[in-house]
Amino acid sequence: MKRPTPPIEWAGDHIRIIDQTLLPAEVKFIEIRSASQAVDAIQRLAIRGAPALGAFGSLALVVALDEIEPESLSQARTRLEECRTLIGDARPTAINLRWAVDRVIDQATKDGSDLTSLRSALIREAQAVADEDKAACDEIGRLGHELLRDANVIGTHCNAGRLATAGSGTALAPMYAKAQAGEPLRVLASETRPLLQGARLTAWELDDAGIDVTVVPDGAMASTVLSGQVDAYIVGADRIAANGDAANKIGTVGHALAAREAGIPFYVAAPTSTIDFKLASGEQIEIEQRDAVEVHEIQGSRLTPQGVDAFNPAFDVTPHHLITAIITEAGVLRPPFRDSIAEAFKQVGGS
Ligand code: MRU
Repeated sequence: MKRPTPPIEWAGDHIRIIDQTLLPAEVKFIEIRSASQAVDAIQRLAIRGAPALGAFGSLALVVALDEIEPESLSQARTRLEECRTLIGDARPTAINLRWAVDRVIDQATKDGSDLTSLRSALIREAQAVADEDKAACDEIGRLGHELLRDANVIGTHCNAGRLATAGSGTALAPMYAKAQAGEPLRVLASETRPLLQGARLTAWELDDAGIDVTVVPDGAMASTVLSGQVDAYIVGADRIAANGDAANKIGTVGHALAAREAGIPFYVAAPTSTIDFKLASGEQIEIEQRDAVEVHEIQGSRLTPQGVDAFNPAFDVTPHHLITAIITEAGVLRPPFRDSIAEAFKQVGGS
């Protein structure tokens, strides 16, 4: 397999990211040097995917602090508090962003007794968020590989791979593990309208790694599954409620229904940082509504008649009863999810 390109890099005084909106046509790196550039990159999906948003949001706190050149500790702390909402709420569904921003600010505020130690603590904690995510991806890859050993054709939706995490991905990590083990593997990537994360990003990163990937139109996936051509599904998640209901890219629930009808497993892969234990069920998950222009247009060309409305929810919630198992770094969680999630949460020290 070829060497992967890291989607996020800390360059000492700025963050360097691949602008994912341009992939696969162009691999362009952009430099993030201010809070407003960070928020813009998050909101236009130059950086995306729940765990990657957590890793990026953590580093964005450092550039947001540097940008104002604070003269006192209290000025720096006030700036970080501003960023709790400015950066932490830049996208509402992926809990990893809010979780990481809160974690890094809280830890740095505790450890930073002057401006220098505050900045160092921010960088240290941001690095810990990324390192832990990378380790979580590895463990999810290992556990998912065991579950998917006999699955030769695997369906996925959106992009939950290297581009979406600080490591080898969540849903895609087991695929990398299978490929590394030399097992037969063909991935069906649903295109994921309107922003085409499956067609553009999953296809690009798996192809880059030498993995056989076929892009399937969203509307063709259910019949492909029902005709017996898919052995299992694995997708990522943006937020998982305490009962196992899982929010992920719009369209995911349709794949879960097809999998249930076809009698194939439907796995959700996510680090425990994606679990929002405060929420009893998926009904409480805020679903990001995005600009209708993303539905009206493809790469700047208008598809729909002028004057017609478009509806553009970015995520949907797959009810827990359609999920075979949730693969986390703390183990493979099985129904009843309320119990297995509570146990995993305790194991990783959550409250
Ligand atoms: O809108 P996006 O591209 O950020 O949506 C991403 C997804 O839905 C992913 O499946 C999810 O964040 C998991 S990424 C490991």
